[in-house]
Amino acid sequence: MTQEKSRGAATPWSGRFNEPVAEAVKHYTASIGFDRRLAEFDIDGSAAHARMLHAVEILGAADLAAIEHGLAQIRDEIRAGRFDWSPDLEDVHTNIERRLTALIGDAGKRLHTARSRNDQVATDVRLYLRVAIDEIADLIKAAQRALLELADQHTDTVMPGFTHLQVAQPVSYAHHLMAYFEMLNRDVQRLADCRKRVNRLPLGAAALAGTTFPIDRMMVAKELGFEGVCENSLDAVSDRDFAIEFCAAAALVMMHLSRFCEEVILWMNPRFAFVDLADRFCTGSSIMPQKKNPDVPELIRGKTGRVNGSLVALLTLMKAQPLAYNKDNQEDKEPLFDTVDTLTASLRVFAEMFGGIRVNADAMRKAALEGHATATDLADYLVKKGVPFREAHEAVAQAVRFAEGRGCGLADLKLPDLQQFSPLIGKEVFAALTLEGALKARSHIGGTAPARVKAAIAKAKKNLA
Ligand code: ARG
Repeated sequence: MTQEKSRGAATPWSGRFNEPVAEAVKHYTASIGFDRRLAEFDIDGSAAHARMLHAVEILGAADLAAIEHGLAQIRDEIRAGRFDWSPDLEDVHTNIERRLTALIGDAGKRLHTARSRNDQVATDVRLYLRVAIDEIADLIKAAQRALLELADQHTDTVMPGFTHLQVAQPVSYAHHLMAYFEMLNRDVQRLADCRKRVNRLPLGAAALAGTTFPIDRMMVAKELGFEGVCENSLDAVSDRDFAIEFCAAAALVMMHLSRFCEEVILWMNPRFAFVDLADRFCTGSSIMPQKKNPDVPELIRGKTGRVNGSLVALLTLMKAQPLAYNKDNQEDKEPLFDTVDTLTASLRVFAEMFGGIRVNADAMRKAALEGHATATDLADYLVKKGVPFREAHEAVAQAVRFAEGRGCGLADLKLPDLQQFSPLIGKEVFAALTLEGALKARSHIGGTAPARVKAAIAKAKKNLA
C-alpha cells in the first residue's frame, strides 16, 4: 500500500503528490471548522449544478436522480447532527462530495464536472450572505418599529438638543428618536443595494477561466434565485468586494446603534437622569452593592469595534491580491460570519431594549430650561422685526450674560430688562421664549414641531408596514 494511495483516499487532489500532507499543514489549511456553516447552501448549489449538467446532456437521468437523492439524505444527516465532518477532508465542499460518493458511488464523482471549488465556494458565500442580508434587514425594521412606538409617546416631551454636548436648542424626544429612525432607514437601503451585487452567480467560472463543457449558467442562476451571472470568470472566483461591501454596511449599522447606546449610557447617569433602563438590561457589581450598570448598551457600543475590525480584515485580505483565486480568500469567512452574528445579536437586543427605556420627561424639561436653549428664538424674533441677524445675535448674547448674572433664564427676565437689549422687544416675546413655543415654531419639513414630528412618525409607520 503506497502513501499515494492512502493520501488519495483523503483528498481529491493528492494524485499529483509523492508524500502525504504534513499534519500541521492539514490543520493549518483546513476550513471545515468554520465553513460547514455553508453546508446547506453548498447542497443547493450542487443540486442546481447537477440539474443543469443533466439539462445540457452531460449527466444522465439516473445519475441526476442519485445525486438529488444523495444530497437530500446528506441534508437530513446534517440537520439531524448526524453528519461526520472530517478535518482530513479540508473543507465543506470535499466533505459533502465524499459523503455523496460513499452513498451513491460513481454518480457522486461526476458531480464536480465543469465546476471547481473556486466557483463553488464563491457561490456558497453569496447564497449565505443573501439570506443573512434579508434577516438583518428584517431585524433593522423591527428595531425601527420599536423606536417608532417610543417616539409616538414623546412628540411633546421637550429635551435639550445638544451640539458639542452642550445645551443648544429645545427638541422633542420623539424628534431625537426619529433621527435614529432615518439612520436605520439608510442602513436598510444600503443593504438592499449591496444585495443586488451579492446576488450574482459565480458558478460556471470553474477554477478561473471557465469550462470546456457547454454549460447553461443562466439556468443555474435562475434555479438559485440569482439576478444574473458574474460576467467575467476571473472576477467571479477572485473578488470578495461583495462581502466587504456588506461588512461596510454592517459597520455603519453598528456605528448608528453605538451612538444611540452611548446616549442611553450617558442619559442613565443620575447627572442627566433623562432615561432609566429596566433592570433586565442591566447588571450589578460584585463589590459595589449600589451599582446598576448599563451592560447591554455598553456591549453594543463595544462590539462595534469588532465589526469595524472585520471590515478592515477583509479589505486587507483583498488588497493587492493578484488574479484570480488565492487561498487567502478562505480567510473571508470568519470575519464575515462574525459580522453577521454580531450584527444579528446586537440588533435583536437593541430592539428589545426600547421596551425597557423609561423616560424622565421632567428631568429632560429641567435640563432644557437650564442652558438658555431659546436664545436663538429671541434672535429670530428680533430678525423678524427687521434687525440684521448678526446684530440680533449680539443683542441676545448680552441678554444671556445679563440673565446668567441674575442666575435665571431668558424667559424669567422682566420685559424692561429685555428691552435694554433692544427696544423692539414687546411682551409677545415670551411666547417665543418658552420651550413649547420654540418647538412649535420649527414646523417646516424636518423640524421638531410636535405636529410635524407626528406626521413624520405616521409616514414612517406607513412606509414600514
Ligand atoms: N476552502 C476554500 C475557500 O474557502 C475553498 C476553495 C478551495 N480552492 C482551492 N483552489 N484550494 O476558499
